[in-house]
Amino acid sequence: MSVIDQTAPMPSTKVQSRKVVLSGVQPTGVLHIGNYIGALSLWAQEQVKYQNYFMIVDLHALTIPENIKAETLRANARTVAALYIACGIDPEDSVIFLQSQVPAHPYLAWILTCCTPMGWLERMTQFKTKSEQAETVGTGLFVYPALQAADILLYHADYVPVGEDQRQHIELTRDIAQRFNNMFGEYLKLPEGLYRKSGARVMGFDDPTAKMSKSLAETRKGHAITLLDPPNVIKKTIMGAVTDPGSETRFDHASPGVRNLLELYEVLTKESRPAIEEKFGGKGYGFLKKTLVETVTEALRPIQEKYQEITSDPAYLDGVLARGAERANAVASKTLEDVRQLVGV
Ligand code: AMP
Ligand code: TRP
Repeated sequence: MSVIDQTAPMPSTKVQSRKVVLSGVQPTGVLHIGNYIGALSLWAQEQVKYQNYFMIVDLHALTIPENIKAETLRANARTVAALYIACGIDPEDSVIFLQSQVPAHPYLAWILTCCTPMGWLERMTQFKTKSEQAETVGTGLFVYPALQAADILLYHADYVPVGEDQRQHIELTRDIAQRFNNMFGEYLKLPEGLYRKSGARVMGFDDPTAKMSKSLAETRKGHAITLLDPPNVIKKTIMGAVTDPGSETRFDHASPGVRNLLELYEVLTKESRPAIEEKFGGKGYGFLKKTLVETVTEALRPIQEKYQEITSDPAYLDGVLARGAERANAVASKTLEDVRQLVGV
């Protein structure tokens, strides 16, 4: 598995033979800073080296249908697409599209579902957590990773930049592809996950033992900072972050809450760990928090400005998504055709 080392960028490949990067986010709410640090900032940072496919996985958002309102889902999908661009994804080069506009996704997902032993899906920790919280567990929630595998395998992705919580799904995608290849012939490419060394798992400000998540962000004030939060909310959330009674600011010795703040600062400023430890050592957590408020506010300002610009022209986003769907369909339908030949349907 690859790890992004922020101090040593990966060797660049020639534009003509760019490797393929693919990733996606569920349109289940406004993106938070964990999504940005763990995923989107990584996509933007690395995009020129690759041919990129960035999806809004709206079919995955249906796996807990009780939470869905059609109007909200449609609006959220557009918000996420606009945020991709606002975070620096170049829609002229990268393919930005809605998963639901490419019918090959659920089609290949069915074929892959048939190649996936139930035991593999039963082991998925995200399924276990989500199903414990749900009153009724839909079959879609269970087979969710087979749809994710289809998302990735349709585009012959080399790399999938995601947060740490997705590692198990990427491993499973490899296993499913391998099993398909064993049964029907070597065809599907096994992808690799790309994870940040620091920031791959941003924790809640209110509870540093819980991963920052969209669902908790909606119900608990102080849990997350969303990418569209105004400066006063950013300030309140960071100043209220749970730390500890001590004053330890070394990465390897800090409590989970303090380490979370240090890692956010590290990823956003790209300063080295020794420099950060030197800067914040012996000054109390108040100074770390105040500095982080400024850093986060400054990081989100251009994203929010760009977001306003994009959303002021709905036709622009319509155009991006239409072109994205067209480009994605061209690749995905070819893969699906090959797979159908291989399996005999
Ligand atoms: P989701 O919000 O589950 O749709 O996740 C979208 C992307 O953001 C995936 O690549 C996740 O791994 C990543 N992600 C979600 N939450 C976090 C977090 N707390 N820290 C780091 N990455 C995250
Ligand atoms: N399961 C991912 C998440 O919850 C979203 C996702 C769906 C995805 N399909 C994907 C991520 C393909 C990377 C590649 O965050």
